[in-house]
Amino acid sequence: MNKSGVCVFGSLNIDLTVRLERFHAPGETVTGRSFHTFTGGKGGNQAVAAARLGARTAMVACLGADANGDMYLRALEREGVDTGRVARVESETSGVALIEVDDAGENRIAVVPGANACLTAARARAAREAIASCACLLLQLETPLEGVIEAARIAREAGAAVILDPAPARPLPDELLALCDYLTPNETELASLTGLRADSDEEAEAACRRLIERGAGAVINKRGAKGALLVSRAGVMNAPGFPVNAVDTTAAGDTFNAGFAAGLVEGRSVEESLRLANAAAALSTTALGAQAAMPAYSEALALLNKNGELGMGNGE
Ligand code: RIB
Repeated sequence: MNKSGVCVFGSLNIDLTVRLERFHAPGETVTGRSFHTFTGGKGGNQAVAAARLGARTAMVACLGADANGDMYLRALEREGVDTGRVARVESETSGVALIEVDDAGENRIAVVPGANACLTAARARAAREAIASCACLLLQLETPLEGVIEAARIAREAGAAVILDPAPARPLPDELLALCDYLTPNETELASLTGLRADSDEEAEAACRRLIERGAGAVINKRGAKGALLVSRAGVMNAPGFPVNAVDTTAAGDTFNAGFAAGLVEGRSVEESLRLANAAAALSTTALGAQAAMPAYSEALALLNKNGELGMGNGE
């Protein structure tokens, strides 16, 4: 089968975002600065970011048969994402995330999965063609684990690269790790997955190695503004981050994964794909809302070139 593009198997949420000066304590009431309704969810964020970066992108997901679902479907279509495998579930509401963003750009998120809980192994099998025909499958953990494992298995059998963002963190079976070409935890997720500290570079590298021993092909530790650390059996690679004025870091990790996948499916090296991922993730933090500042390919390249990242031509 001729394989191309990115397939995202995962969650779609409507983000209800409140901007506040500071996070409040239990029992305390504070006045927010603003309220917005955005499209979000780790899966949808990855799909929109990949499409903006120029990758042919298909989404496999579940929405409720409600107004939020209608809104999200239209938004994905506007972005050019193939929504042929986005199911509408009559009995569920679309997923919702309550998000607070403070003046430092940090966030707190509570998710109600709704229809996302219906993205089962059976739905992965029903979407076999979309999953098996992509060059790169993007996964996250806001939907049932059985579906994530089945999607990874289908992609792996078909020869697609499997990239799992283990977020939100939860215990993972070795069976799933062994199906992943790349696992992309941040420091908190890396510590939670391994039970090891992951603050310093040395600690993070040791924790990544623990996941490789359990079966993961390579581990990319996303370290925010500091960049990314890739550890594989072949060695270690450091890709520095880009300093920007962060307004809202929601979905920076999702954008990173999409950027890395977009680079790989375009035929770029792992090193170049990491740089593209870091640039896209940095730019995504410069406006309020998960998807608001996700860059076009040309914008990510402009940041790379401004920083003298030679070797990142326009790909033509
Ligand atoms: O990764 C960011 C996303 O996490 C938000 O868009 C929110 O929907 C939650 O799923």
